[in-house]
Amino acid sequence: MPLTEKPKWKGLCMILWASGITAATVILGVSVVHDTLSPGAAPEAASACRDHHKCRDVKRKPIERPEFPRGFIAQPQCNIPPDSRFDCAPEKLLSQEECQARGCCYVPVLPKGPAILQPWCFFPPSYPSYKLANLTTTESGYTAHLTRGVPTFMPDDIMTLQLDVIFETEGRLHFTLKDPVNKRYEVPLETPKTSNRAPSTLYSVQFSDDPFGLVVVRKSSGQVLINTTVAPLFYADQFLQISTSLPSRFISGLGEHQTSLILNVNWTRVTLWNRDITPTPSVNLYGSHPFYLAMEDGGLAHGVFLLNSNAMDVILQPSPALTWRTTGGILDFYVFLGPDPKSVVRQYMDVIGYPFMPPYWALGFHLCRWGYSSTDVTREVVKNMTAARFPLDVQWNDLDYADARRDFTFNKDGFGDMPDMVNDFHRDGRRYVMIVDAGISSSSPAGSYKPYDEGLKRGVFILNTTGQPLIGEVWPGPTAFPDFTNPETQQWWHDMVKDFHDQVPFDGMWIDMNEPSNFVEGSLEDCPSNKFEKPPYVPGVLGGSLKTRTLCASSRQYLSSHYNLHNLYGLTEAIASHDALVKVRGKRPFIISRSTFAGHGHYAGHWTGDVMSTWDHLYYSIPAVLLFNFFGVPLVGADICGFVGDTSEELCVRWTQLGAFYPFMRNHNDRRNKPQEPYVFSQEAQEAMRKAFLLRYSLLPYLYTLFHKAHSAGETVARPLYLEFPEDPNTWDVDRQLMWGAGVLITPVLEAGKSHVSGYFPSGTWYNLLAGSAIHSKGQWILLSAPLDTINVHVRAGHILPLQEPAFTTTESRKKGMSLVVALTLEGVARGDLFWDDGDGLQTFEKGDYTQIVFLARNGMLVNEIVQLSSQIDGLLLKEVAVLGVPSPPQRVLANGVPVPDFSYRTDTKILTIPLHLLMGEPFLITWS
Ligand SMILES: *[C@@H]1O[C@H](CO)[C@@H](O)[C@H](O)[C@H]1NC(C)=O
Ligand SMILES: *[C@@H]1O[C@H](CO)[C@@H](O)[C@H](O)[C@H]1NC(C)=O
Ligand SMILES: *[C@@H]1O[C@H](CO)[C@@H](O)[C@H](O)[C@H]1NC(C)=O
Ligand SMILES: *[C@@H]1O[C@H](CO)[C@@H](O)[C@H](O)[C@H]1NC(C)=O
Ligand SMILES: *[C@@H]1O[C@H](CO)[C@@H](O)[C@H](O)[C@H]1NC(C)=O
Repeated sequence: MPLTEKPKWKGLCMILWASGITAATVILGVSVVHDTLSPGAAPEAASACRDHHKCRDVKRKPIERPEFPRGFIAQPQCNIPPDSRFDCAPEKLLSQEECQARGCCYVPVLPKGPAILQPWCFFPPSYPSYKLANLTTTESGYTAHLTRGVPTFMPDDIMTLQLDVIFETEGRLHFTLKDPVNKRYEVPLETPKTSNRAPSTLYSVQFSDDPFGLVVVRKSSGQVLINTTVAPLFYADQFLQISTSLPSRFISGLGEHQTSLILNVNWTRVTLWNRDITPTPSVNLYGSHPFYLAMEDGGLAHGVFLLNSNAMDVILQPSPALTWRTTGGILDFYVFLGPDPKSVVRQYMDVIGYPFMPPYWALGFHLCRWGYSSTDVTREVVKNMTAARFPLDVQWNDLDYADARRDFTFNKDGFGDMPDMVNDFHRDGRRYVMIVDAGISSSSPAGSYKPYDEGLKRGVFILNTTGQPLIGEVWPGPTAFPDFTNPETQQWWHDMVKDFHDQVPFDGMWIDMNEPSNFVEGSLEDCPSNKFEKPPYVPGVLGGSLKTRTLCASSRQYLSSHYNLHNLYGLTEAIASHDALVKVRGKRPFIISRSTFAGHGHYAGHWTGDVMSTWDHLYYSIPAVLLFNFFGVPLVGADICGFVGDTSEELCVRWTQLGAFYPFMRNHNDRRNKPQEPYVFSQEAQEAMRKAFLLRYSLLPYLYTLFHKAHSAGETVARPLYLEFPEDPNTWDVDRQLMWGAGVLITPVLEAGKSHVSGYFPSGTWYNLLAGSAIHSKGQWILLSAPLDTINVHVRAGHILPLQEPAFTTTESRKKGMSLVVALTLEGVARGDLFWDDGDGLQTFEKGDYTQIVFLARNGMLVNEIVQLSSQIDGLLLKEVAVLGVPSPPQRVLANGVPVPDFSYRTDTKILTIPLHLLMGEPFLITWS
C-alpha cells in the first residue's frame, strides 16, 4: 500500500482532523497497512499525528496478544448484517489474528461514507456475557445477581454484579448495575427515592438469562424500547459498556455538541468530557448530558438517562442501536415512558430537578464584550445604547475589570470607580454582571491576594497526587482550582463572593472557564502515569487524552478523583455560586455558566460558549437552545452576532432577530473583532434590530410565564415543533424554527442574502403576530416574506398571549400597560395565562406570593379567572385586547357590561382591537357581538 509514503500520512491525518472524522476512521483506514508498515515509517507518522486522538493508533506500539479466554471455544457466527455489528475492538486496532484471539469475528469492510466507524472486529452472538441468577421480586421491582464465567479483554472485570430494577412511577423505570461487594463511585445527585412498586406502569420488563439482557417494552404498543441483549455487557473497573437497540432513528440529546436536533445514527461517536473549545461538530464541548429522547411510531416517545459522570462515548449505529461506553462509576439508568415527548422531558426533570426561576430582569437584553477596558468605556456603551433607543437591562464586563485578571479584584486604574458605575446602573434601573473564572491565581506575593491565601489555609483546592494544590495556568498565569465538592470550599466561595459584593454590588455571576479549562496539559508539572491518566479505554476526546486542556484526571477532590468528578466541575461551581448569591443578595440568583452537567438548570443558566460569527453557527444555535431546554436548562442563548471573528451587518441583524427569541439574550464580542453593539450599524440595520428588541420586550410577560411553568411543572421554554406536534412526523427534524411555549412559532432567516424563508406550519391556523394575517395550514412548508427588517413570528390559534408595552429596561416595562393577543381557533376558542410576582424575590411561587390569571375566550366572550392574587399586580392596567380571527365585524363591544365605543375592526385581517382601562388584578368580562 502506498500509505507508507510520509506525505500521505500527514495528509491523511490532517484531512481526518479537519473533517472531524473520529478515531475509528483511522483505525479502519490504516489497518490495511498494519502488516506492511515499515518500522522506520511509524515514528514519522506518529509525530505528524501527535496531537490528535484521531491519529493515536498510528503509533505502532507492539500489541500484546490478549489471552484467549480460558474455557471459551470460539465458534463465531459471523454472518451478522454490517449495521448490526457491535465493536469488539473499541480501544485499539486489532489484526485479524488478534481479533479472533478475542473470540470475535473479523470481516474487513471498506469504509464508505458515514459507515466509516463500522467495526471490522465484532462480537458473535456466542460471545460470553453475564448470566442472570437468582432473580427475585422485591417491594419495588426486582433484584438479581449477574455472573460472568470468563473475563473479558479489559482489565479488572467485576465478575458478579447486582441488578436492581425499580418500578418507580407509572412512566419511570429505574435500574442499576453495581458491584455488590466494593462500593464504587456514584454521581452525588440527589434523586427521588421510591420504596413501593408503582401500582400501574406504561412499561413491562423482561429478562434474558444467558446472555444477560434487559428488555423494556411499552405495554400499549408492544414496542421494544430497550433491548440490551444485542451485545455483551462489560463491567470492568474502568470500562463499562452496554448496548441497546433503538425503536427509531429519531433520537435527540447526548449533549453538549454542535449538532442538529436529530442525531445521525449512521455510525456516530458522541463523546462526553467537558472541554473548552470553540464549538465544532463531532468534538466534546463544555457540558455533559447523558440523556436522549427517542421518537416512536405514532408520535410516542421515551427517554433514557445514564446517571454517570465519567468520560464516556456513546456510539450510534444504523440498525438502529446505541452503545454506552463509560470509563468508571456505575450503570444507573432511568427510562422515561412519556408517552409523549413533552412528558419525557418532564419525567427527566423529575429526576434531575426543575429549573430555577430567573429574575425578571434576566429576560431583558444583556450586553458584553471582552475589551470594555474601563468604567468610562463601559458607561459609554450604556449611554450609546440609550441614545440609540435600544433597551438594555444588564451591562456586563469580561475580564477587563479584574486586577491582573484575578477573581474578586478590580483594576484600580481603569475600574477605580467600578462601585460607583454599578450604583449608577442601578439608579437607572439596570443590573450588572461580571465574569468569574474558575482558576484562582496562585502566584501573587503571599499576603496580597486573599482568595488564594485563605483558600490555601482552608484547604479548598484540588490536590495533585503528592497532596499539594494542583497548579495549572489560566488567564492570570499560574492558578489553583477550587474543589467545589468540598463543603469548606462552598463556605470559602461564599466569603469571597460576599467580600467582593461588599465592594461592588453586582447582581449576578458569569462563571466561565469551568470545564475547568487549563492552558497547560494537566498541570505545570504535567501528570503522573497511572490508571486514571492512562485508562484502558480513552473515549474519543479531542486531543487524545483526558488531561488535554484540563486538569490531571488523577488529581484528588474531596468526594473522589477528578477522573470521576471532572464533568461535574461547572455544576458544582454553579451550586456554590447559587447558594452564595442567595445569602449575599437575598434575592433570586442569576448565574450563567459555560460548563454544565445534568441537573445544572436547577441552579443556573448557560450560554453556548465561544461561537463564531458565521451563518453556520447562527443555525447551530437553534438546536443548541432546544436541546438545553430538554436538558432542563431553559435559560440559554448563544452570543448574538457571534463571539469569535468579525460579524457582518446582515449576519448581526439576523442574529439579533433570532437572539430576541433566545430565552437568554446577550450580545457578546471578543477583543480583537470589529464592534457589534446594535448602535454601531447603519440606521437601516438598527431599525431592524430595534423591531426585534421591541417584539421581545413586548412578549416578556408571556416569556416569564413560560419560565414559571418550567420552574413549577418541568416544562420547556423554547421547544422544537415536535414537542407540540409529535403525531406529525414532518416536525421531527425541524430545527431551523423554534417555539416559545405552545403558542408562538419563530421562523428566522439563517442564510445570507435572503428575503424569504421557508417554514413548516403544522395543521391549523397561525396568525402573524405583527400583521395579524392568518395562515390556514394543512401541515405544510410555507414560503414567508422576510426582508431584512422582519423576523416571522406566528401565534398559534387557540392561545392568548399576555403582552406589555416595551421600555428601555424591565424596571420600566414592568409598570407599563398590558395587552392580550387572543388568537381564536376557527371554533372561536382561545386560552392563556399570566404569572406575575415581584420579579426578583426568593421562592415567591413556593411562598404563594404571586398572581396567576387564566384567560379564556369563547362565543364572542373573553373572561379572566384569578387563580391566585398578590399585591404585586396592583395598579397594573389592561389597556388593550386584540382578537385575531373574528369572522365578521361586531356591532358592539362591552367591557364589564359597559359599551366600548372606540373599538376597531379590520375586514382584511379580521382583527378586532379593543382599547380598555381595566385592572389586571380584577375580574373582567369582555364581549363582542
Ligand atoms: C443464588 O442463590 C443460591 C441459594 O441462596 C446461592 O447459593 C447462590 O450463591 C446464589 N447465586 C448467586 C450468583 O448469587
Ligand atoms: C432482543 O435482542 C436479542 C438479540 O438480538 C433478540 O434475540 C431478541 O429477540 C430481542 N428481544 C426482543 C423482545 O425483541
Ligand atoms: C443514513 O443512512 C441511510 C441509509 O443509507 C440514509 O437513507 C440516510 O440519509 C443517512 N442519514 C444521514 C444523516 O446520513
Ligand atoms: C459611543 O458612541 C460614540 C459616538 O457614536 C462613538 O464615538 C463611541 O466610540 C461609542 N463608544 C463605544 C464604547 O461604543
Ligand atoms: C504537586 O504540586 C506541587 C505544586 O503545588 C508540585 O511542586 C509537585 O511537583 C506536584 N506533584 C506532582 C506529582 O505533580
